[in-house]
Formats: sequence, C-alpha cells, structure tokens
Amino acid sequence: MAQYQYHGSKRPKNTKKTLLHLLRYLGHHKWLFLLVGLLVCVSTGANLLGTYLLKPVINRFILPGDLKGLLAAVAGMGIMYLCGALASLAYSQLMIKSAQTVIQEIRRDLFVHVQRLPLRYFDAHTHGELMSRFTNDVDTVQEAMNNSFAMIIQTFLTLTGTVIMMMVLSLRLSMIVVVFLALMFAFIRFNGSRSRKYFQRQQAQLGRINGFVEEMMAGQKVEKVFNHEKKDFENFCVLNENLRRESTSALAYTGMQVPTVVSLSYFNYAVSACAGGLFALSGLMDLGGLASYLVYVRQSAMPLNQFTQQVNLLMTALAGAERIFDLMEAEPEVDEGDVTLCHVKEEDGKLVETAERTGHFAWRVPEAPGTPEVPEAPGTPEVPEAPGTPEVAEMLGTPAAAGSGTRLVPLKGDVRFDQVVFGYVPEKQVLNGISLYAKPGQKIAFVGSTGAGKTTIINLINRFYEIQSGTITYDGIDIRRIRKDDLRHSLAMVIQETHLFTGTIADNIRYGKLDATDEEVREAARIANADSFIRRLPDGYDTMLYSDGSNLSQGQRQLLAIARAAVARPPVLILDEATSSIDTRTERLIEKGMDAVMEGRTVFVIAHRLSTVRNSKAIMVLEHGEIIERGDHESLLEQKGRYYQLYTGQFELE
Ligand SMILES: Nc1ncnc2c1ncn2[C@@H]1O[C@H](COP(=O)(O)OP(=O)(O)OP(=O)(O)O)[C@@H](O)[C@H]1O
Ligand SMILES: [Mg+2]
Repeated sequence: MAQYQYHGSKRPKNTKKTLLHLLRYLGHHKWLFLLVGLLVCVSTGANLLGTYLLKPVINRFILPGDLKGLLAAVAGMGIMYLCGALASLAYSQLMIKSAQTVIQEIRRDLFVHVQRLPLRYFDAHTHGELMSRFTNDVDTVQEAMNNSFAMIIQTFLTLTGTVIMMMVLSLRLSMIVVVFLALMFAFIRFNGSRSRKYFQRQQAQLGRINGFVEEMMAGQKVEKVFNHEKKDFENFCVLNENLRRESTSALAYTGMQVPTVVSLSYFNYAVSACAGGLFALSGLMDLGGLASYLVYVRQSAMPLNQFTQQVNLLMTALAGAERIFDLMEAEPEVDEGDVTLCHVKEEDGKLVETAERTGHFAWRVPEAPGTPEVPEAPGTPEVPEAPGTPEVAEMLGTPAAAGSGTRLVPLKGDVRFDQVVFGYVPEKQVLNGISLYAKPGQKIAFVGSTGAGKTTIINLINRFYEIQSGTITYDGIDIRRIRKDDLRHSLAMVIQETHLFTGTIADNIRYGKLDATDEEVREAARIANADSFIRRLPDGYDTMLYSDGSNLSQGQRQLLAIARAAVARPPVLILDEATSSIDTRTERLIEKGMDAVMEGRTVFVIAHRLSTVRNSKAIMVLEHGEIIERGDHESLLEQKGRYYQLYTGQFELE
C-alpha cells in the first residue's frame, strides 16, 4: 500500500531546543520583534484602560449630569481606543513582514542543506517525507508566526490585565470570576487532551489517503494496464471512510470547546451581575465601578479561548519546526578535499596557473611538508631555513610557478581502482576488491548481469558514496583529496535514469556547461544525434519540456542526456546504459560522433547490449561485485567464459 505516511506529530520532542533554534532566526530581526512586543503592550493596555475609564465617566459625569465633562471624557476614551487600534494594526503588519522574512530564511537554509546532503540520506528517506518538510511543516510554522506569537502575548496580557483590573475594582466580587475561569480552564484542558488523540489519528489517516492518491497518480498507467481501478477504488473508499470517522470525532471534541466556554461565561456574567447588583445596593460598590467591572467579565472568556487555541497552534508549529531543524542538522556531505582544478597555460615549457579561461586544466595539489605524494622531495621535506630562496625551491623540484607548496598536475583523465571494497550498507558488500585502470584515451566497458555492481562502480568515481577500503586515484591523486565540485566538473555522466528539468531543450543541454554558446549546444546535439529530432519539434531548441520531459520518447530523452554530457567535453565520460532505448542505427551514429569528441579522453561505458561495447579497449565482466573476466572483445570470446555466454546467448536470442 501507500509508502507515504504522516510524518509528524503534533508535539515537539524537545521544546526547549527547538524554541532556542527558532529564536536564533527571530534574533536576526530582534528590533522588529521588540517593537512588535511593545506595540502589543500598548494595544492591550489601551483596551484595558479604556474599559476602566467607564467607572469615572459614569460616577463623575453621567450620574452628576455633567454633559460637557462627559463629552470630553468620551473623546478621551475614543482617543485611547484609537491608539490601541492603531498599535494593533501596526504590530500585525510588522509581524507579517518579519514572519515572512524569517520563513524565507528558513526555506533558503533548508534548500541549501538538502542540496548538501549525501545520496545516502536520500536512500533512507522517501521524497514524500522530505517534501513534507518544505510544505506542511513550513506552512505550520508560517501560520504560527503570522498569528500565534503576537496573539499569545496579547491574550495573555489581556487575561491577566482583566483579572487584575477586576481585583482592583472589587476584590470580593472578582472571586466569582476566578472560580469560573478556573472551571473553564479545567474544561479546556480536559477536552483538549481528548481531542488531541483523535487529531493525531486524523492526521495519520490524512497522510495515508494523500499517499494513496499520490501513488495512484504516479502509477496511473500501471493501474490501467492491470485493470486495477475497481480494487483501488475499494481501497480508497476504506481510507476515505476511516478519515471521515476520525475527523468527525476530532472535530466533535474541538467543536465542544467554544460553546461550552461561552455558556460558562454567560453564566459567570449573570452570577456576577446579580452579586454586583447586591453589592451596589448595599453600598459596597459604586455604579460606575460595577459597569466597568461587568464589561471586564464579558471580555474575560474570549482571551482564555484564544490563548489555549494559540498555544495549541504554537505547539503544532514547534513540532513542525523541530522536523525542519532535524533535517537541517542531518550530516551534510563531507568534503575535505584540498585539490582543486585551475586553468593553466604553457610558458617556457612549464605549466603555469592562470586566471584566463584557457580551456586547459590542471589539478592544483597543495603539498604540506611531509605529504607522501611529494615525489620531488625525498629526504627533508622542510625547506632549510638559511637558503630560503626560490632557488632552493627549484632545487627541491617544487615548481615555483604554482606558488610555494603546490604542484600542478595536468588534467588527463587517468582513473585507477585499487582493491576497492564498498557496500551501500555496512552489512552487505556490493563490490569486493575491484582493481582496474583506465588510461586517457581508453574506452573501458562494464558488462554483467543485472545487479552485478556496474552502476555502483561509477557512483564511486563520482564520489556519490565513500568507499570502505582500497583507493581510487584520478591522474594519480587520491580522489578523496579532490574537492567534490572540481572532481565532478571533470567528469560528465549520463546516468541510468535520465532526468530532464522544466525548461527549454537548449536549457537542458546547457545544464552540462552553463556558459555554452548556442553553437556549442547545437554541436553537442549533432554529436548526440539529437539535432534532427529537435529541429522537427514545433519550437525547435526552444521547445519547453515539462515534468521530466514527458512529451518526449524515452530514446529522445536519452539523446538529450547524451548531448548534455557532450557539451561539457570533459576528460572523463561515463555512460550508464545511455543508449539502451535508442535504435542500433542511431546508436552507431552517436558512437562515431562521440569517438571523435572523446579522442584522447577516457570513456566508461556500461551496456547490456554487447554490440555497444565491442570496440572497447577493455571489457570488464562483473559478477557479484567482482571482475571475473577482462580483456578485449576477441580475447574474451576466445576465453569461452561468461562473456562468451552472454554474447552468444544474446546472439541466439536475437
Ligand atoms: N542506493 C542503494 N542502496 C542500497 N543498495 C543498492 C543501492 N543501489 C544499488 N544497490 C544494490 O547494489 C547492487 C548493485 O547494484 P548496481 O546498481 O550497481 O547494479 P548494476 O550492475 O548497475 O545493475 P543494472 O544492470 O540493473 O543497472 C544491487 O544488489 C543493488 O541491490
Ligand atoms: Mg546499473
């Protein structure tokens, strides 16, 4: 059934830590938030005080019949309320502004972090799970930031302020209110804990039903092919019914809160009014005080209701924020590489680093004293103190041109594996002691049955995953020393599952080299034999591709992926089943074009169609993570081993 599950609870596990993390974000705008807090106080204070003013207005002006004074006092009250209203308008606007900025920052940091996560992380977490951080969780935090923060402060201040003012007006009378407020609070807590249980179940059901729909959409074709509509509809109905049941229960409880609290507050009002009337009659309280007091009573239930609602919202938001921060704290891909790529030119027969974009590259290898890879400095790695001159550097063989302590190694594309052992999970080894070398200009092919480990080998060259033991070198440098960006810059790869992005065809090809000119893009398309079909499209190179290029055929998508790799013209090209959906005639043409481009460069090819790899310099036959045979096509056929079986088997089938 659906793999998509509800990925969150309503309560944060570590409230304090999450709150602190969130406060760090708010801290970037601390003056704005302080201003919001101040304005909230002003608005609440104005409202509380406005109500209190009823007492002197009635006692001093209405009862004695002083019209002039009354008008002045009413005007004063009006101004007070107006100030309150303006302050609340101002803080809500400010809050929206700062909340959106904070959310923008959170979203940005989350995106950047997800980009830095290692592939291993994506193996262990579903897309739905990661997506829900960006959608549901960010939404709840945003919601809470927009309203809850200010509302919680405001309702809390209003509630305490109201109770204090009532006590000031009449301590004895306020005891009634205190009792009623305590009753309401107890009810809200009790009701809340019961509704929470059903809410969690409702959320879980919602997750299930969403996941089911998502899967149905994605697997529409398969559903139709296997006539599964009726069965799926039945499953959907079950989920839908479960959701209805849980939602009804959850909402039944929450729906009870407001009417109950409101009824209690009316009851409270009636009791207070009766008691207050008796107090006034017996001279314990003046009329103005009573009027003002009763308005406070009317106002007291609202903030209690709102306060509890907002606290619940805030808790949900904190749970969302916790999931966001958890993702942000997931270990990013480590890159301790210090070897980088640079442009070079030749000067007096020596390579020199240059800022010009010469199109010739070299590895810039920093050499700490004592690095074992320094072949030029046997004996004393440290430069002697006295003759610390350029000559000494020259004597020791350090190329002065690259700056002291660095060595320039021309980028050639020489890849070697030495006893490489690897498994995606520690318990299960996928590659056992792979050794191989590919010299610049050679075409190396991997063949073998499905799941043998071909894709895995090339995942390692790219450092998508870290090897467990052994070494992989690139131009003689351990790839762990090479900065990942630069390493990947020097390799072009057509991966087994083609992915096209939303954008034009030209954009998609240019993905391989962002500054490629239109002519380069076309040239790459010609090499990949994609040019003719592209030109037949209504908008040619400007044809928009949507949702992973679903308006193209599988083979056309592969041609674009090859063009994307061809435009980069890297020293090492990796093709993983790149031509599996392409007819053999087109494949031959691509091969010719590619051979011309890759002249003198290294190519790794993985293919099930053995005709594709026949002309490779060396063919490695992989079985259960080991190279069981190697050699060129003829010698492998002569061996009459696995390759022979694969080849002749295919021959018979064809
Ligand atoms: N991301 C992954 N996490 C865990 N195991 C994986 C992962 N990718 C591949 N494997 C396992 O590693 C083994 C080798 O897979 P690999 O993709 O290298 O095979 P392959 O030779 O490329 O096969 P195919 O010809 O089907 O593409 C398989 O047993 C597979 O189950
Ligand atoms: Mg594969």
